[in-house]
Amino acid sequence: MIIKDSFKNIEHSAKLLKQDKLVAIPTETVYGLAGNAYSEKAIQSIYEVKNRPAKNPLIVHIKNKNVISEIAKNIPEEAFKLADAFWPGPLTLVLEKQNHILPSLTANKSTVGVRMPNHEITLELLKKLDFPLVAPSANRSNHISPTTAEHVRSSLASKSPYILEGGVCKSGIESTIIGFKNGKPTLYRHGAIAKEEIEDVLNCSVVEISNDILPESPGMFKKHYSPNTPLLISKNVKKDLLRLNDKKIGIICFQNNLEDFNQNNLKVLSSKGNLKEAASKLYSTLHGFDNMGFDLILAEEMPNVGLGLAINDRLKRASFSEI
Ligand code: TXA
Ligand code: MG
Repeated sequence: MIIKDSFKNIEHSAKLLKQDKLVAIPTETVYGLAGNAYSEKAIQSIYEVKNRPAKNPLIVHIKNKNVISEIAKNIPEEAFKLADAFWPGPLTLVLEKQNHILPSLTANKSTVGVRMPNHEITLELLKKLDFPLVAPSANRSNHISPTTAEHVRSSLASKSPYILEGGVCKSGIESTIIGFKNGKPTLYRHGAIAKEEIEDVLNCSVVEISNDILPESPGMFKKHYSPNTPLLISKNVKKDLLRLNDKKIGIICFQNNLEDFNQNNLKVLSSKGNLKEAASKLYSTLHGFDNMGFDLILAEEMPNVGLGLAINDRLKRASFSEI
């Protein structure tokens, strides 16, 4: 059920969460499937509803920066710097967990992911609770993350919980995940904050975990974030269109408008060439194209800078099951 007048229903959502039930919540990145972070029952329901493998840990959402020490310990100075710079906002910190954090939440890891989201409805809801919320993206495991309440409903279908409507998610792509492996700031997942922005705050370079080794963060599994329609990444859209001319194709371009192509089957992510805008439209475009009966989605590779890296990362994972 999608709840339109969300502010009036925050109280009811709080009540459901106190009963260990789940509520889908809006955030600035994507919608989350939220439950009481201290409830084993709520955590198990999250894994069940999403059909998520138990080895993929969840992110804890907190109402203010002070709660960080309730969740994590031995927090490095750099983590506080990043929290000051980006919270509330789309940054998840992976830190050493406090002993009371449930092993099912962290998939038995000694670390825990934590962030303070930036959405007024969800912050209002968190204030009404005396526990943090654990919330993965509110989609079936391995599918496209939801950036509207309707995406949540269609992805989770009959298992869809009470959904707090919070409009279209502003960033439209998941949080950037930073950990401190061997004491060094490490990027576990590209996301709504560019790696360069993190490096500017820390005044040092951030190590990137290679995809070739066993993923530190299952959001880095090769296949993830996938539409049902096969997706191909293109370095030259016009050339690939000639090669694939017998197929019904939906095209995702960065800023190049292909005038001689059927405009109904084309989505330009940012005509101004703004990568933040492009990132915010990626998932809604994939959701829309997935319902249009295409044989193939052809997605132009984005410039490999700033949020272009996050978009290309998601496109790569979406394209893993090649045609
Ligand atoms: O923007 C977001 O982060 C959204 C919203 C709802 O907050 N949440 C989200 O959650 O994307 P989810 O569960 O779809 O992705 C969480 C990612 C996974 O890739 C998981 O492996 C990683 O966070 N993660 C969580 N705890 C971790 C840990 N202790 N070490 C490494 N990676 C961790
Ligand atoms: Mg997810």
